[in-house]
Amino acid sequence: MKDKDLINLLNQMTLDEKIGQMVQVAGDIFLEDTIDVSTGPLKNLGLSNEMLYNVGSILNVMGAERVKKVQDEYLSKSRLKIPLLFMDDVINGYKIAFPIPIAQGCSWNVETIKEMTKISAMESNIAGANVNFSPMVDLSRDARWGRVMESIEGEDPYLGQVYAKAMVEAYQGKDLSELGNIASCVKHIAAYGAVEAGRDYNTVDMSEREFRQYYLPSYKAAIESGAEMIMTSFNIVNGIPATINKWLIQDIIRNELNFKGIVISDYGAIEETIAHGASKDEKQAALNAINAGVDIEMMSSMYSNNLKELCLENKEIEEKVNESVLRILRLKNKLGLFENPYGNIDKQKEDIYIMNKDNLERAKKLTQETFVMLKNENNILPLDTNKKIALIGPYADNSAITGSWSMFSDRTKNKTILDMFKERMTNEKLLYSKGTEILREEKINEILRADGLPLIHVENEKEKEELSIKEAFETAKEAEIIILLLGEHYRQSGEACSRSNISLPENQIKLINELHRLNKPMIMILFNGRPLQLNNVADKFDGILEVWFPGTTGARAITEVLFGDVNPSGKLTMSFPQNAGQCPIYYNHYNTGRPLLRDFRYMSRYQDIPTESFYSFGYGLSYCNFKYENLKLDKNKMTEEDIITVTIDVENQSAYEGYEVIQLYIQDLFGSVVRPVKELKGFKKEFFKPFEKRQIKFEIDIEMLKFWNQDLEYIAEEGDFKVYVGGNSVNVLEETFKLNR
Ligand code: NOJ
Repeated sequence: MKDKDLINLLNQMTLDEKIGQMVQVAGDIFLEDTIDVSTGPLKNLGLSNEMLYNVGSILNVMGAERVKKVQDEYLSKSRLKIPLLFMDDVINGYKIAFPIPIAQGCSWNVETIKEMTKISAMESNIAGANVNFSPMVDLSRDARWGRVMESIEGEDPYLGQVYAKAMVEAYQGKDLSELGNIASCVKHIAAYGAVEAGRDYNTVDMSEREFRQYYLPSYKAAIESGAEMIMTSFNIVNGIPATINKWLIQDIIRNELNFKGIVISDYGAIEETIAHGASKDEKQAALNAINAGVDIEMMSSMYSNNLKELCLENKEIEEKVNESVLRILRLKNKLGLFENPYGNIDKQKEDIYIMNKDNLERAKKLTQETFVMLKNENNILPLDTNKKIALIGPYADNSAITGSWSMFSDRTKNKTILDMFKERMTNEKLLYSKGTEILREEKINEILRADGLPLIHVENEKEKEELSIKEAFETAKEAEIIILLLGEHYRQSGEACSRSNISLPENQIKLINELHRLNKPMIMILFNGRPLQLNNVADKFDGILEVWFPGTTGARAITEVLFGDVNPSGKLTMSFPQNAGQCPIYYNHYNTGRPLLRDFRYMSRYQDIPTESFYSFGYGLSYCNFKYENLKLDKNKMTEEDIITVTIDVENQSAYEGYEVIQLYIQDLFGSVVRPVKELKGFKKEFFKPFEKRQIKFEIDIEMLKFWNQDLEYIAEEGDFKVYVGGNSVNVLEETFKLNR
């Protein structure tokens, strides 16, 4: 349709029909047999049956047949037959679950992330998705916050910008109506990752400089890459809930970043402005949201119940409604829904493309790039397959390794590590014992209670645990290498999964301590959605492999890495704290006036733990051993027009081939405002043959030196800078240069 036809259509719409477009409802309300009876979310939202056939979009209904049924039912009763938009949370894949986003980020490979994104876009598009609520680019510095698992960038805004662009482009392609392309909704605007004390939905209060320097850039990159939608966050931003924050949505997002797309609230977030104490009642909540510029209300009924009255009271509000509806119609049009309301739904294609064999093979390779080897003493890895190996722990024979958001993929069907080892090893060489559950009853019940699910009771839990650990001990006694497969429950990270204790569960620590008594080489494979506290267990292990929640192909991917078919190459994107007391912790922090440069009491430090993280940003080992030398700058002075060429020699001093992520950091030594001790400004993931030595090159230009100065101008200031290059953020070589403007 032409834009003027969309405007014509808008002009034909009644006020109710317009407001309906601005309402999003969840689930399968159109799939119920007795559609006239309002149940579930419908009832909660208080939508009349008439209004139901005016709504503009649906949340999280997927599957070609189901989506078609809903669209048909809707269109059969809607007057103007404006097709529904289907929006979904395909966070780390649809049927093929990929590694969770934090893991994807650890690949430091933009092409890998693009490929995963493309496959999930294709699978979900065929199954009916028009819009995906991804990428999530909330900068995350606090491991207590459960949603760090969704953050593609971890604690780094540079990574965030690169990844945001890659993902938006991969989702949307060039033409949204084409098979395999879906609209991208970047979230959560804004600064959701900075919730105080890591408690979900909590307060965010920060200086505008901090916001612009660290939190805004990734959202900006997504918007500049063409993201069709943004989602507001649940938190307040400097005193005002993001969802009704005019400064945020109007001044920054619309006016400064020139965003033309759709703003959707998060789930129930408009109504929640009442609980925040920022709207006095439902009508004011609706007024505040429309004035701030929210086009679609997700899963609360402030708009459906109040917007009409507000429009009738004030013509300007109707103008705003018209603008919002036009944006929604435009997106439907771009997606080609007016020509074909079913989009790219295709039952036959579903059978061909979904869980497609080639894609699964690709997925496995991509997954392998997301693992981060944290420790490998005495080259315990790759495994010596002549040795007798014991697989112990609750994740050894567990298929629930896809993370909390993979709700469309079947957690029960994935292969387990034990299945995979059985394919490669004889019974004599392979031993298995579960050792312990992921969590004890009390902890599982914390999760179940919060979900409103029936609690469990384990009869004689203590005795059973004793027995099971003893059994594992006896099994491990027979082995030459013990592999412990441990971690969090998948419902311990994700939305509403904040934790004050980020250590492994007590029962798992008990298992570790017991087995450690055997004095045999031990390797830990870690399944988790956040950086964990490992300082209480790491020294018991010779090897540690962080695999996060690796998804559908995880077990095979892990097994191949352990056996040495593939070399691990991931690097951390979030610092692992010594313990939760250090949170928030991040590498790109400021110096205090008393940095810990000497051992003296009155320094910025902890009495009981080191100041630095346990594992730092950018850290990750490989079977190769990389040596860095000869860091050189082609000049030590630059003006605004100059480019400094940085070179460094990187040598693979091993007989393995593998990838290394070479990282470039810059520090501005003095400024009108304090500057971080280091900021990532570039990286390269390079392949090295055995014993290969190569020179790696970076370029530094003026853009890389800019920041928000004292007067909130984005500029580079004259003075001295340091350049650091290395394989992580700590072990680096350094050089200096001067900027003269
Ligand atoms: C709430 C979450 O915060 C958001 O990320 C998600 O996309 C929506 N619910 C929709 O499920």
